[in-house]
Amino acid sequence: MGLYKKYLLPKIIHWTCGQNPTMRQREKVVPLAYGKVLEVGIGTGLNLGYYNSTKIKHLTGLDPSEENWKMNKVNAEGLGLDLSFVQASADQIPAENDQFDTALITYTLCSIPDPLPSLLEIRRVLKPNGTLIFCEHGIAPDNKIKKWQHAVNPVWRTISGGCNLNRDVPDLLEKGGFRLKNLETMYLPGWRIATFNYWGTAMIR
Ligand SMILES: C[S@@+](CC[C@H](N)C(=O)[O-])C[C@H]1O[C@@H](n2cnc3c(N)ncnc32)[C@H](O)[C@@H]1O
Repeated sequence: MGLYKKYLLPKIIHWTCGQNPTMRQREKVVPLAYGKVLEVGIGTGLNLGYYNSTKIKHLTGLDPSEENWKMNKVNAEGLGLDLSFVQASADQIPAENDQFDTALITYTLCSIPDPLPSLLEIRRVLKPNGTLIFCEHGIAPDNKIKKWQHAVNPVWRTISGGCNLNRDVPDLLEKGGFRLKNLETMYLPGWRIATFNYWGTAMIR
């Protein structure tokens, strides 16, 4: 692993994902989590402070990057969270079928190289009546912005640790075997090619 990926990228991810508009998005979705929870792509732990610990039995945070996770400074015990970290990729989740009540995924689908196998894997480990909670940035509705997203994506992906600007989030979720229950969208303040947000909940189809 290069020095950029090991030392600099986790700091950049922590800073960009920790901006106020993004943190306000977390506040909208993370408290919905309940029961046995799997957070996919837990990154630097920016969601931890938003869980409603009284609703959580156990939280498993999964991420292939231990470097990102090491940036986490939150005292989970102090928050009343029973937490374990698993270093793994979402397309190979080390868990039995039908394990989790909730899967939470925030600003991660953009970074998974091939998201469909990962969504199918999340579906596998969710209980049949479980909930997928998501908040992701992705393809914008405006043609002019879309055009820029497609144009800039190859360079952006290279410098940003694999983040894609132009993923069609609802389409991916449907193709990954989920039925959208709630979906909200808006541009967050900031650079419009990177700020169109999709958030809501989905169930197994
Ligand atoms: C932009 S960061 C977001 C981190 C965190 N979800 C948040 O909301 O702050 C994307 C995260 O996705 C993780 N990631 C990349 N590929 C992954 C994969 N195949 N499976 C699970 N997580 C992955 C990265 O390591 C990184 O921590």
